[in-house]
Amino acid sequence: MAQAAPDLYAVFGNPIAHSKSPRIHAIFAQQCGHTLRYEKRLAPLDGFAASVQAFIAEGGRGANVTVPFKLEAHALADELAPAARVDGKILGDNTDGAGLVTDIVERAGQAIAGRRVLVLGAGGATRGVLLPLLQQGPQQLLVANRTASTAQQMVAQFQHDFAASIGHTAFAACGLDHIAGQFDLIINATSASLQAQVPTLPENVFATDAMAYDMVYGKDLTPFLAYAQQRGARVRDGLGMLVEQAARAFFIWRQIQPETHAVYAALRSELQSGQ
Ligand code: ATR
Repeated sequence: MAQAAPDLYAVFGNPIAHSKSPRIHAIFAQQCGHTLRYEKRLAPLDGFAASVQAFIAEGGRGANVTVPFKLEAHALADELAPAARVDGKILGDNTDGAGLVTDIVERAGQAIAGRRVLVLGAGGATRGVLLPLLQQGPQQLLVANRTASTAQQMVAQFQHDFAASIGHTAFAACGLDHIAGQFDLIINATSASLQAQVPTLPENVFATDAMAYDMVYGKDLTPFLAYAQQRGARVRDGLGMLVEQAARAFFIWRQIQPETHAVYAALRSELQSGQ
C-alpha cells in the first residue's frame, strides 16, 4: 500500500536562506515521532499572497511567516486566534510574543508580573509582543521609540483595542530621549542591532539586577547587550524566543508540545562554533 505523503509545512520570508526553522521543526518532529516536511520558501517581495496560495494548492498544512511579511500574513488570515480550526480557511496566530514571554519567564526565570518593563522600538517586532507582555501584568510597560509619535500611536491603539488586558499596568509611550525611571526588564525590539547600533538610552535606565533582552541573536553579544552588560545588566539574546515561538507553532499544527531545551542547547552550541 502506498504511504501518504508527509504533511507539508514551510517558513516564508525574504531573505530566508539563513532560517533555522526547518532544523528546529525537524528536531521537534523527530522527538514526537511525527513525519513531516518543512521547507524554506523565498516569497518575492510583491508576491507573498500568491506564494501562500501556491503552497496551499500543493497541500501545505501550515506556515511560519517572518520578515518582511508578518503584517501581510495578518491581513491574509481569514481568522485570527483564538479560533476554532476550520478546513479551507487560513488561521492566523502570532507566536512571537508567546515565545518571548516563555523564554523570559520560564527559561530565564525572570518574572514580568509586577515589574517595570521597557520595550525599545515601535515596529512590527514590538507590535507582536505587547499583548502577551501586558497579559503578564507588569507594573509598568513603557514603549520608547526613536520616533515618539509611532510609539504613541501604537500604545493608543492597544489601549483602545485591548483595554481589558491592560489592567493596572502603567502602559505608556515616549521618545527614546524622554525615558524616565529605572526598569527591571529592557527589551530591544528595534532593528538597531542589525545596523550594529545601540538605541540611545539614559545612563541609569537599568535597575539593580535588571535583565536586558535583545530579540536578535548571534555568536557574539549584540551591541545593545554589550552596552547593557557594561552597565551591570544580565543579558539574554533572542535565540530562546525563536525556539519557543517555533514550539508554539508546532503545537498549533500538531497538538503536541515539543521539548525545547535540547534544541536550544544544540542551536546555541552551533552558534558558538560558528556553524
Ligand atoms: P521590525 O518589523 O523589525 O520591528 P520596523 O517595523 O522597520 O522593523 O521597525 C524598526 C524599529 O527599529 C523602529 O521602531 C525604528 O525606529 P523609528 O520608528 O524611529 O524608525 C527602530 N530603529 C531602527 N534603527 C534604529 C536605531 N539606529 N536606533 C533606534 N531605533 C532604531
